[in-house]
Amino acid sequence: MAARGTLIGIGVGPGAPDLITLRALDRLKSADVIAIPRSSKYSPSTAWSIVKPHMEGISGQERLFLTFPMSMDPERVRPAWQEAFIAIGSRLERGLSVAFITLGDPLLYSTFIYLLREAPRRWPGLDIEIVPGVTSVTAVPAVSGMALADGQERIAIVPAAYGVADLEATLDAFDTVVLMKIGPEMDTVVQTLERRGLVQKAVYVCRATMGGQTIVRDVREIRQQRGDCFAMMIIAKKSHSGVLLGDVAQRQISRASAEETAP
Ligand SMILES: C[S@@+](CC[C@H](N)C(=O)[O-])C[C@H]1O[C@@H](n2cnc3c(N)ncnc32)[C@H](O)[C@@H]1O
Repeated sequence: MAARGTLIGIGVGPGAPDLITLRALDRLKSADVIAIPRSSKYSPSTAWSIVKPHMEGISGQERLFLTFPMSMDPERVRPAWQEAFIAIGSRLERGLSVAFITLGDPLLYSTFIYLLREAPRRWPGLDIEIVPGVTSVTAVPAVSGMALADGQERIAIVPAAYGVADLEATLDAFDTVVLMKIGPEMDTVVQTLERRGLVQKAVYVCRATMGGQTIVRDVREIRQQRGDCFAMMIIAKKSHSGVLLGDVAQRQISRASAEETAP
């Protein structure tokens, strides 16, 4: 059915309420409906806990909680989406603006992506706006001081819970590897890093910028743990860093000075 409303996907940042953007706040305050994903009826929404302190005193706005079970099984998730489409669609068809909030950025491993894909089919002609957010992929480097990439370096982002069998090949092909959604793969990851002599090049950060933030610089300490659902590991080899850093620059400088001193 044609919809006259507006769908807005809003990234609310990695956790700290002051890492939400001014544009996100503007859209959140003026939206008719805030659609709030959560993993169960009994657990709080992390995205809403970031937004809530900014929304005191705003009246006449609906807060629409939508429950999506944390599961990799499409059969468990599909019914939840059917309910969400009906709930969101009925508001859009009344011409309302619906702001769907997501942790970090809405276009990186986010529930919003499925809604974005389905929207043109379900609600042709719908206006859609996307407000980018500060992603955990940049929050984790910020709190750990581990630079993501510089100069010629290349980055891979891997959802580790879906398997890390190709981690060695990824470490060979990229200078920096970001492991999101580590879950049960921690031990395999640490074993691989030990084998490749890369333990010293890794950092594990849990709940970056949130309460309970933890930074582990010796990842062997947590090898027996399951990765927290807000945790990431970054492995940065730093062998091709920028003009003033790294071995490539160093080799060029050595070559240049050798040529200068050659008879
Ligand atoms: C479903 S993805 C959501 C990513 C999000 N859209 C973003 O842009 O950051 C969830 C994964 O993001 C990472 N993550 C999200 N927030 C985090 C935080 N505050 N600290 C560390 N990792 C985080 C973890 O790897 C987690 O498994």
